[in-house]
Amino acid sequence: MNATDNLEEDGRLQLNEKGELRHLLTLKGLDKAMLIDLLDEAEQYCVPHGSLPARRQSLAGRTVANLFFEPSTRTRASFDLAGKRLGADVLNLDVNTSSRKKGESILDTIYTLQAMQVDIMVVRDASSGVPAYIARNVGDHVCILNAGEADVSHPTQGLLDLLTIRQHKDSFADLVVAIVGDIRHSRVAKSTAQGLQTMGVGELRLISPPALAPNPEFAAGAKIIDNLDDGLKDADVVMALRIQRERIGNLDGIPGIDEYFANFGISQERMKIAKPDAIVMHPGPMNRGIEIEGSLADGPSSVITRQVSNGVAVRMAILDRVSRTLVAR
Ligand code: CP
Repeated sequence: MNATDNLEEDGRLQLNEKGELRHLLTLKGLDKAMLIDLLDEAEQYCVPHGSLPARRQSLAGRTVANLFFEPSTRTRASFDLAGKRLGADVLNLDVNTSSRKKGESILDTIYTLQAMQVDIMVVRDASSGVPAYIARNVGDHVCILNAGEADVSHPTQGLLDLLTIRQHKDSFADLVVAIVGDIRHSRVAKSTAQGLQTMGVGELRLISPPALAPNPEFAAGAKIIDNLDDGLKDADVVMALRIQRERIGNLDGIPGIDEYFANFGISQERMKIAKPDAIVMHPGPMNRGIEIEGSLADGPSSVITRQVSNGVAVRMAILDRVSRTLVAR
């Protein structure tokens, strides 16, 4: 079975017999109507800058556990806030002091939390297949949310990117979206690209040096480009990605920092090739001066902090949605 087959199987596993979202493992297999529905729901949790955050009690009595077996700032903090703002008890397991360090298997960790009546487990792991493996093995009263899976999938990031684009642009069908950087090792690129294609994006360009280009199975329908100026021409949306050095064993063929910024870094000067009203995105964490110029990241075309705010709203929408499929107890 190849990676695409796995994604399709995960896509089926995450829906219950009524077609409702029970786990969130991948954006693959979620149709346009469901994506729109989730974005509309997330929009309800977006409030004007400076207002108090939206709060509901829809998860009161439920327990959410954050299990991050890889580092995170944005995703972990936003799932924590999202759960609390919906009234849930939230457990942030400190993996470094957990019994996994004593050799406990991931499933034994999961079963331990399940026995403590955790309802929703939010999982980030460096190995592919872990969220689906857990979803296959938990009881029917537990939901699993993928918070970042190896270089394969980061579905809530894909959703928050779609929401941010929708808030700034009229129609996905009219858009040229350029994703620039380490496409090959980026789970964000894959989930955001899947979401954009489901939404019917006009043109999707994946721009990188050849050593960081995607495998063709992940890039169906997208243009693979190795020249930044060609890729940015008349783009409406430009998303920069960092080089995922932690996933690259051999750095042969990967340009050094100065060469990388000169050829693939997004800067104010470079953005003159894109449309005048183009927006600049980055999922974070950013490496300023490598994949993006600091002044561009902080400038008027940047929607990067909006992406972060939208991350909380999207995760509230997902927590609320899967909790509706939980068996009452
Ligand atoms: N975008 C993203 O996943 O950021 P974190 O690694 O900080 O969660």
